[in-house]
Amino acid sequence: MVRTMRLTLLQPDDWHLHLRDGAALRDVVGHTARHFARAIVMPNLKPPVRTVAEARAYRDRILAALPAGTAFEPLMTLYLTERTTVEEIAAARVSGFVHAVKYYPAGATTNSDAGVSDLDRVRPVFEAMQAHDLPLLVHGEVTDPEVDVFDRERAFVERHLAGIVRDFPALRVVLEHVTTAEGVAFVQQAGRHVAATVTPQHLLWNRGELFRGGLRPHAWCLPVLKREHHRQAVLAAATTGDRFFLGTDSAPHARSAKQSDCGCAGIFSAHAALELYAEAFDAVGRLDRLEAFASERGPDFYGLPRNTRRIALERAEVTVPAELPFGDERLVPMRAGGTLHWRIREDDV
Ligand code: NCD
Ligand code: ZN
Repeated sequence: MVRTMRLTLLQPDDWHLHLRDGAALRDVVGHTARHFARAIVMPNLKPPVRTVAEARAYRDRILAALPAGTAFEPLMTLYLTERTTVEEIAAARVSGFVHAVKYYPAGATTNSDAGVSDLDRVRPVFEAMQAHDLPLLVHGEVTDPEVDVFDRERAFVERHLAGIVRDFPALRVVLEHVTTAEGVAFVQQAGRHVAATVTPQHLLWNRGELFRGGLRPHAWCLPVLKREHHRQAVLAAATTGDRFFLGTDSAPHARSAKQSDCGCAGIFSAHAALELYAEAFDAVGRLDRLEAFASERGPDFYGLPRNTRRIALERAEVTVPAELPFGDERLVPMRAGGTLHWRIREDDV
């Protein structure tokens, strides 16, 4: 077999990203803006981004935080609460910069307290989103404490997602950061209105990584890493399926917030996202599908134009720093202190 040493692809976008705010935002946004043209920006700030006016202000802060000379388009989202109005949905649609609404089950993950406890209360909002063709992005995990943490995505698909898709057949729905064989199977059997994003950690790691030689807080994210057969299913879908696309879920937390008595969930991958995806695709001999995953299926699903510039990836051994700046603190990036096997070249395409 000929070993690919170099490939070019259309500039990618990240369809699920946490940028935070303030000094932390200024430290992380450049990692994504360096190589990605656009990103769907998650609204789980404190307090959350609930209105078009809040999304506009947050977008302005992101643009102001960009390193000089970078062109990057933040695609904003609204945080769905039980008080979101149908008027806000209509305003989002005409804003031109709000591209989706994010649904967090209350208590499911970081900064999700203001999320939805009772799905029935948001049905009119789903109705309006369907009418205005505004996509619904789903954190697909139940919060029922009776359900084992490793089964929460599967239970969400069975108890809630299937019903949403059945009741709102024209609503575009993204099952964010899909992690299970059941989640993958649901998206595959659903129609073209249903898609999923896939993170680098769920392609490269199974749940063993959480306990490799000891307890690894920097491998802790939600949805939690799963068994190997789930990783295999997610990898097969990302490298062959039509409606699976790149969404890093890069979610920075200070080292002290992760290495604590109750560590925060979230893995920072923006410093090396495309390189890590390339490694996962290469491992199964599917580098030929990386461009579709990273640069084509996402804009096609969102109804946005594909990027036009090309970037190059070449095989190279690159060491990842042990830490990166993060406001007043430091964060530990994915693969910290380890080696990447790909490097991005923008100058020589
Ligand atoms: C995310 C965060 O830190 O904001 N954490 C995570 O583990 N993925 C929230 C989320 O997307 O669940
Ligand atoms: Zn996320």
